[in-house]
Amino acid sequence: GKVRAPTHIISTISDDRGEEPCYAGVPMSSIIEKGFGVGDVISLLWFKRSLPRYCTQFIEICIMLCADHGPCVSGAHNTIVTARAGKDLVSSLVSGLLTIGPRFGGAIDDAARYFKDAHDRGLTPYEFVESMKKKGIRVPGIGHRIKNRDNKDKRVELLQKFARTHFPSVKYMEYAVQVETYTLTKANNLVLNVDGAIGSLFLDLLAGSGMFSKQEIDEIVEIGYLNGLFVLARSIGLIGHTFDQKRLKQPLYRHPWEDVLYTK
Ligand code: ACO
Ligand code: LMR
Repeated sequence: GKVRAPTHIISTISDDRGEEPCYAGVPMSSIIEKGFGVGDVISLLWFKRSLPRYCTQFIEICIMLCADHGPCVSGAHNTIVTARAGKDLVSSLVSGLLTIGPRFGGAIDDAARYFKDAHDRGLTPYEFVESMKKKGIRVPGIGHRIKNRDNKDKRVELLQKFARTHFPSVKYMEYAVQVETYTLTKANNLVLNVDGAIGSLFLDLLAGSGMFSKQEIDEIVEIGYLNGLFVLARSIGLIGHTFDQKRLKQPLYRHPWEDVLYTK
């Protein structure tokens, strides 16, 4: 019989060997014929299945809402400085992307992990927040540099509104809101931020859609798929900032001395 030589790579999400490429078994022509959007493509390539419309719409809303947040945030700042140093598109983009992490845009996975664990163990928001404090860990998904109780993040409200209307259950989001209610008693800026909103709502999407087993949800949360939403979304804005700087022919950036405290 035929002997199959062992392969060096295993791949399960896409196939380009036939007449047309397939994403998770779905040929490109049906993706176009069915009018699929980027949310459907993400469902196929990340989750290896077609998700219901409200889920793909939610994914697309996350992408649109996180695409940019002005020139002053960490990622855009790095991209702008890099573009002004004369570097190319990819260098400017990755320079911005490299700021995404536990403080900026990359707290979605940890927010999902901690909210899920605390909710599923039945911890009250008080017990959860105080246990985090004892461990010296900031609650991921809580807190913002410029947003506060009186100037809430509109993106969070929009995500919550969509989910309350379309999701079968928003139990994890409600838990995150209860956590926010408690953290706001501590400081004005300890609001549920966009990372926390996406993290908690994606738990609701995974649990409520009926499309994922408990084991699959645990795996998605453990591997950490969700920061990918912010990385993907913000790439749109960072590419825009690169083009903007090039179009404006901005010179090399040098930070002003006056804005540095030189001290020993
Ligand atoms: N949980 C508990 N306490 C907090 C938190 C939090 N998430 N955030 C701030 N605090 C408290 C702490 O007491 C902190 O003091 P510490 O430095 O001794 O820990 C105090 O507030 C002041 O903190 P600052 O660093 O001055 O707050 P800042 O406004 O600079 O921080 C930030 C904003 C970085 C977002 C912070 O709230 C944080 O680390 N949050 C968790 C990570 C997160 O969710 N990041 C995503 C933000 S949204 C986005 O980037 C798209
Ligand atoms: C963002 O989306 O970039 C922001 O929430 C972070 C910020 O500092 O405004």
